[in-house]
Amino acid sequence: MEQSVCKRVGILTSGGDAPGMNAAVRAATMLLHAAGCEVLGVRHGYRGVLEGDFHPLDLEQVSGIIREGGTILGTARCLEFMERGGRDRGRIKLREAGIDALLTIGGNGTLTGAAALTDPEELGNQRLCVVGLPASIDNDVGLTGMAIGVDTAMNTIVEACDKISDTASAHDRTFLVEVMGRDCGYLAMTSAIAAAADAVLFPEAGKSVDDLVGTVLKAIGRAGTRGPLRTRRVLVIVAEGAGASLPEIKQQIEQRLREQGGSMEVETRVTVLGHVVRGGRPSAFDRLLANRLAHVAVHALRTGNTRKMAAWMLPGELPAEVAVRSEADPYCWLVELEAVLAETRRLLDGTSPLVQWRRRVFEEVEDVLPT
Ligand code: F6P
Repeated sequence: MEQSVCKRVGILTSGGDAPGMNAAVRAATMLLHAAGCEVLGVRHGYRGVLEGDFHPLDLEQVSGIIREGGTILGTARCLEFMERGGRDRGRIKLREAGIDALLTIGGNGTLTGAAALTDPEELGNQRLCVVGLPASIDNDVGLTGMAIGVDTAMNTIVEACDKISDTASAHDRTFLVEVMGRDCGYLAMTSAIAAAADAVLFPEAGKSVDDLVGTVLKAIGRAGTRGPLRTRRVLVIVAEGAGASLPEIKQQIEQRLREQGGSMEVETRVTVLGHVVRGGRPSAFDRLLANRLAHVAVHALRTGNTRKMAAWMLPGELPAEVAVRSEADPYCWLVELEAVLAETRRLLDGTSPLVQWRRRVFEEVEDVLPT
């Protein structure tokens, strides 16, 4: 392997953990060692940078961790790092430790931290290359087809929904199942399709509570017309950011059904999957994604590339000043961190064409979801 521009590389995981973070840590450690770099694990994300909590990471320590959920490095959300003073302290700690490159693994907050840490005005003449890997179950990071952890989370949701579906079918019940995703409905939307849900409530639809309840009632109405030997199960997946809590939706459904005074008895139950969705062994896809993105990121660091995120499968072409296809892997890209953050903001405020497309697709299929 060619000599590396960077000599001592820190690796950190930050924000909410995601299955596959360990796979990324392991792959990057192995590749960096092979390139003759020293590798330091940073404990608890940017908090560890501020505290100089750096520890040599050798091949033995990462052996076997590809199978483990969570992150062996620990993670945290560090508010101090959002302030210039905190970042200045962090840069001093990195300089004192001789760290000239950093691989940051995490979601929106992590990538925001990476961009701020390497802001040319703040950085001055300190030599520090930073490359990020998108890892968040929410899939709310812009300009990457998938983030590490999403596939495992989706599989966990689908497995849970299949189980819930068994009991819901047996009792002809309506189940509202809440899934994580913060302000992004991706996990809810995709798992609704994969679990054959009857309805899905997600923030991007921009619906009022009344309309959310209306969507569920429509699905219940359709289930009521199924033949005698078919279940009247109704499975509704609700994104945590949809805009109403499960007890609120349940209460309003029951009230509206009472007001309608129909003959159909409808029993509703709620299940919040919560942090269950974030844990567990990473799927094969997440392990592979973590390895491929780590390969691309390490390649970038070794050649002195900075302020980039390694991305997976972008649709179409992007201007070269925003994203360049990786020389290390034709399915991956190196995207400017600033462009990633700008698109992430558009994903969250609903102005991204991708969000508008998702909304249109679900408007189209809403009435055919109940089978
Ligand atoms: O960003 C990942 C995530 O799991 C979100 O889906 C969720 O809203 C949030 O983190 C929960 O955060 P915490 O673990 O701090 O409660």
